[in-house]
Formats: sequence, C-alpha cells, structure tokens
Amino acid sequence: MFSVNNKIELRTQRDALVVGLFSNRKILEGVLHNIDQAFEGELLNLIREGDISSNTKAISNTFSFGKIGAKRIYVLGLGDEKKLQPAILREGFGKLFKSLKADKIENITIAFDTFLKKDEDGFDVAHILAESLPLATYDIINYKKKSNQREREISEVEVLTDREQGLIEGGLTLGYVHGKGANTARTLTNMPGNMLTATDLAKFAVSIAEKCNMEYEVLEKEDMEKLGMGALLAVNKGSEEPPKMIVLKYQGTNKWENVLGLVGKGITFDTGGYSIKSKTGIVGMKTDMGGAAAVLGAMEIIGELKPSQNVVAVIPSTDNMISGDALKPDDVITAMSGKTIEVLNTDAEGRLALADAITYAKHHGADYLVDVATLTGGVVVALGEHITGAMTNNEAHYEEVLQAAHEEFEPVWLLPLFDRDRKRVRNSNMADLNNSPGRPGHAIVAGAFLAEFAEDTPWVHLDIAGTATTNSSYELGPQGATGVMARTLAVLAERMAEKE
Ligand code: BES
Ligand code: ZN
Ligand code: MN
Repeated sequence: MFSVNNKIELRTQRDALVVGLFSNRKILEGVLHNIDQAFEGELLNLIREGDISSNTKAISNTFSFGKIGAKRIYVLGLGDEKKLQPAILREGFGKLFKSLKADKIENITIAFDTFLKKDEDGFDVAHILAESLPLATYDIINYKKKSNQREREISEVEVLTDREQGLIEGGLTLGYVHGKGANTARTLTNMPGNMLTATDLAKFAVSIAEKCNMEYEVLEKEDMEKLGMGALLAVNKGSEEPPKMIVLKYQGTNKWENVLGLVGKGITFDTGGYSIKSKTGIVGMKTDMGGAAAVLGAMEIIGELKPSQNVVAVIPSTDNMISGDALKPDDVITAMSGKTIEVLNTDAEGRLALADAITYAKHHGADYLVDVATLTGGVVVALGEHITGAMTNNEAHYEEVLQAAHEEFEPVWLLPLFDRDRKRVRNSNMADLNNSPGRPGHAIVAGAFLAEFAEDTPWVHLDIAGTATTNSSYELGPQGATGVMARTLAVLAERMAEKE
C-alpha cells in the first residue's frame, strides 16, 4: 500500500497529489513551492482567492492542467500550526481519504512534509495518516444483491519526504496495521447473529491464530462441564447453538510470564433471556460481541507487529436465548471459581459469561487483566456514546490502559468502585453473589461483580456499550460498529513490552 520516497519528483503520473496547507505560513515552501512554480504562481492565487482553503479540515481540489504528473491536487487545510492537535489532524485525514474515495481515486502521492510542524520527526503523523486511511474508507460488508464492495479503491500511496525514511516507514506500518485491526473488529461486530454464531466466531479466531502462528484452544460444552464453567453454561442453556470458550495465546518472550490477559464478551445475540428485552431494546443486540471483536482485532494487530509481550485472549461466546430449558430468574448457578450466583436478571448475562472467562484467563497464567464488554445500558446513560467507561482494582494498571487509549484517541473515563457498591453484589440469602442488584449505578455494580472474579489480579474493566457502535457516520468511519478498543488493547501490549 505505502512506499516512501526521498526524492521529490512531481512528474510521476498519478490520480492525485495530496498536500497539507497551514494558514500561518506566509510563503509556500517545499513541495508547495515547487507546485506553485509549475503553476507559474497560480497556486498562490487560488489560495488568495479562496478556491483553496487552509481552514482546519477543509478539503479543496484543483485540476492540474498537465503542469505536474498528477491529474489533480487535493489540499487538506491544517489551520494555524500552533493550534493543530493530532486528534484534529486525524479527522482531517479521515475527511481527505473519504473524499478521495468518493472521487474514485486509486493512486496518490502525498507530499508528507507539508503536514508536519517545523520540528516534527514525522513518526506520529505517519502513524495517524496510515491509520486513518483504512478507518475512514471502511465500508460495511452488507448482503445486498448489488454489492457495495468497490472495484476501485485507494491502493497505492507514495509518501514523499525529507525525513528519515525508516522512521516514516515504521510509523506507516504501525498505523496501517492498527487501522486494519480495528476494521476486523468492525466487520465482526456488524455481522448479524444468524451469520456469526459462537461456532463462527471461534472459526474466525482460529484463522487469526493460524495466520499469525499463535497457539489456540477452543473449549466445547463438554470441556466446560468438566471444568465447571457453570456461569457461561447457564447463559447458553436456552440456546440451540453450542457455546465456545475461545483462547488465543501469543507468546512474545521465551518464558510464559508477565502475561497480559484480554477478555472479550462474545454474546452473539442478546435477547435478554426470560428477563426479555423490549421490541425496541432488542434491535441491535447482534453487537453484543463487540468486546470479543475488539480483543480479536487487537490479537490480529499483535500477531502482525509481534511485540515482546505475552498475551492470552479469552472469549466466552454464546447467544442468550429462551427455551423450555433456559436459565430463569431465581436460578442459582456455580461459576468456575466456585462462587455461587443467584440469577436475578437473565439479561445481566454478560457478567456471567465474563466471570468464567476471567477465571479461565487466570488459569492460563494472566498476571494482568483487561476485559472489554458491551456490558450495560447504564454506562451509556452515565458517559454517553463517545466515552468508554472503566473500572479497576489497580491504579497503576489502569494508568497504562489509559495511556494506550490516549495514544489511540479512544476516550476512557474511570468510574468508582466503592465498598458499598461492592457489597451490593454480595447481597443474596441464596448464594455468594447476585447478578443484578438493581438500577442505581448499574454500570458500576456490573464492574463490581467482575471484580469478584478478578480478585487480586490487577484488572481493568472497559464497558463499551456506548462506544462499540455509532448512529451516524463520522470522519473516521461509517455508521455501525466502530471497532473501539482494538487499537488501545494492542498498544497496551506494545507499551508493556517496551517496559520489560
Ligand atoms: N448487552 C446489554 C447491554 C447493552 C445495552 C449493550 C445497550 C448495548 C446497548 C447487556 O447484556 C444488558 O442487557 N444489560 C442490562 C443489565 C441490567 C439487566 C442490569 C442493561 O444494561 O439494561
Ligand atoms: Zn494506532
Ligand atoms: Mn443482556
């Protein structure tokens, strides 16, 4: 996809040449100056006349009249150099790539240095650029008779730069792999429940493991019975589809130590069970495996970038259905850890499935845990649709997750876990725990429930019920699944690797 070139050559035949334009620079420099010369000063006139805008995130384009090799020039406005934030640059790149895609442009040259501030080495910008291309141009895979899969798409990007070639190549690879991994998560999350069962999800996970040479294990119902995974099995009880406990192991160091455990909720469809959802609340519940999708997207990235960090991914998967045999409110079940649970609400199924997955991740040697789940409507009420809610039993571990999320522009906010709420999940006269202590703070008590299974292992819970999907298209993607947290989890593994 990307090639880096140190030689500034404007005569190469291309569909488009892409440049960035800061508003505060009084004279045109570098490639901009070269273009202006080829245009006999007319580029500057186009800018002065307002046909080309340097306003932040503005996209302008002009025909080149054969004065350079590229047929058209696309300009992304960057505003004032001092005010440009990386988050805004990302959105600008997203808009730019969307407009190139809409114009059916296939090969481009990017005058990379025109996007850099004076003292920048270019690594972060390369990362952002290469990440926003696959993210912004992603198309939902639909099942329409007339396919939306494009014959024409951006497939060749030449990056012209004076900066250190290896560094820029490194940033581009990193970003592109990140973007692709998030798109994998999107594709899985968007798939309907009849097309992505637990069996299908397991097959997909195995394909990632095989592609990246990872060990894997898929537990069947009988295996779960032997291991006493009564919580995951309880969720599956009403289903015709067999459950799967999916495990991928990425070994990044010689010894299996310092293991990061990534746990993703893989409910392929959530009806609510006997505590059934309303006819409007049930629509969209195919995305209840968004946590599993994020973990698999992250594992794909980790498998490609190969950080020296051990990672075990654990995904409990089933749908949550109703039948004569299904789990009922008031049932008491026993989780793998040995704790008993009084089920007060069969729609609080995610925490049941995750309970056994967290226990199983520890059995596989996880020393640090992060779980990702579309767990509660409560987190959407608390934080809205753009912020992932977090809970933790370990501040230092949370700081690392937060840092990774920050690097990948995925907003996360910590919710508290006070003793009073932790006690609420232990309030049952029938069992050790109950799975639904009531509406107040229900995002928090869901986290408190999981904390009972993380126990002493440093753990962060990420509730993506609000952020896993979006109702409208945005600069970096279409409406539907966002692939949120795939990149954050992968960066967490990268950063943990650097620390050791
Ligand atoms: N999958 C849902 C949470 C959800 C809600 C995700 C909206 C995405 C959008 C989860 O399994 C659930 O049903 N949670 C219940 C918990 C309640 C029964 C304590 C909820 O949030 O209403
Ligand atoms: Zn990234
Ligand atoms: Mn539910």
